[in-house]
Amino acid sequence: MDIFEQIKQDHEKARQLATQIEALSDADVTKREELFARFREELLLHAHSEEKAFYKPLERFEDTREEIGHAYQEHEEAETLANRLAEMDAGSPEWMTLFRKLRQSVEHHMQEEESEMFSQAHKVVDDNDAEAMAEKMEEFKEDERETEAA
Ligand SMILES: [Fe+2]
Repeated sequence: MDIFEQIKQDHEKARQLATQIEALSDADVTKREELFARFREELLLHAHSEEKAFYKPLERFEDTREEIGHAYQEHEEAETLANRLAEMDAGSPEWMTLFRKLRQSVEHHMQEEESEMFSQAHKVVDDNDAEAMAEKMEEFKEDERETEAA
């Protein structure tokens, strides 16, 4: 698997979880909290490992630098929103309003990655690089999971 497939796989996971969360009613707070905790954890793991394995090497190239700078900002926004949601009462209507906002901004970001960013990245990353990046991304995820568990 290469980095492009791996990122898309993570995106699909996020989309599915977000759909499940939105389908729950305000009364189903426990399930909502549980699914959101997973969503947030996956989001942060994905964003952090993607930055290390994919954004960082791509920053070196003129072709991708600007797009990457923009993407870092979007990660930061998503992380801020996700952290705010984690502090809020998950049974409140305000929670769902903010969750929808997070979902929209994450969806926008994922679409930009899968289109503009990927096509620019393909110009500077060959097949070997793309596979090595995927391995790195997995390693970074493992490291972060271990740090959290410790
Ligand atoms: Fe991303």
